[in-house]
Amino acid sequence: MTDQLFLKMNDNFQIPVVGLGTWKSEPGEATYQAVLDSIEAGYRHIDTARAYGNEESVGSAVRDSGVNRGDVFVTTKLRWEDEGFESTIEACEKSLNRLNCDYIDLYLIHWPLREKRNHSWKAFIELRERGLCKSIGVSNFTIEHLAEIEAKFGILPAVNQVEFHPYYYQKELLDYCNSKNIIIEAYSPLAHAKRLDEPKLGAISEELGKTPAQVLIRWSIQRGMVVLPKSVNKSRIIENFSVFDFNISDSVMAKLDELDESFVTCWDPHNPPPYAPV
Ligand code: A2P
Repeated sequence: MTDQLFLKMNDNFQIPVVGLGTWKSEPGEATYQAVLDSIEAGYRHIDTARAYGNEESVGSAVRDSGVNRGDVFVTTKLRWEDEGFESTIEACEKSLNRLNCDYIDLYLIHWPLREKRNHSWKAFIELRERGLCKSIGVSNFTIEHLAEIEAKFGILPAVNQVEFHPYYYQKELLDYCNSKNIIIEAYSPLAHAKRLDEPKLGAISEELGKTPAQVLIRWSIQRGMVVLPKSVNKSRIIENFSVFDFNISDSVMAKLDELDESFVTCWDPHNPPPYAPV
């Protein structure tokens, strides 16, 4: 097993830097087995969401893994349909039931829904006080949304989970979050497998003797982020965690930074769908 690394969040809890992503992991056997395989490979961080429909499978696998609940960091997210004060409290309780656990390590507002996001954040603060979640954060928030939370509540999210990879290098957001001690969690850190055969990445991968996926994951770690590669394939799950035994030099990191082409593979809060305005 390779060494686990942790970052300290602004609420003093620790978060493992590599977590298993489960967006698009089919509920049932596929997700259950992926979570078991990941824990066996050394992962201690699983990222799910109400919207993925696989919280039950994640919860069962965490329970069946044989690893103490306290040693596995579990994140889930409030779907935008449940935003609002009361509905957020209820949604959290329901997620806990589906996960079949007593607390969530990290609960995130999945989407910065206009009108509702501040009510949800108020509920998140209460949920944390009640011990239903240890840490609270957000996902898909822009600098403007983060600044709004700070101005209204003075309580900043521990993390902001956004799409992040060299092909979508959101440097301004990363710099802002660093300045506010908010950790960026990189989702779709493999650009959803849509750039793994891109020639410049291929050349760097050959030079380092690591796979393109490992190079992308290591880049996120060295840029100071938590990184959430998704896979339901055991050998790729192992591959994606084998990223603690090499280092990318500053000059190669700079070459990776230059791959940026604002390539967004997922929902973009800068260009939101009309039914989920931000
Ligand atoms: P699979 O689940 O079959 O392994 P992202 O995390 O950027 O959203 O990327 C997820 C996609 O990348 C999935 O299609 C996943 O497929 C694939 N994937 C995950 N790990 C690897 C890897 N090491 N090499 C190639 N493809 C991968």
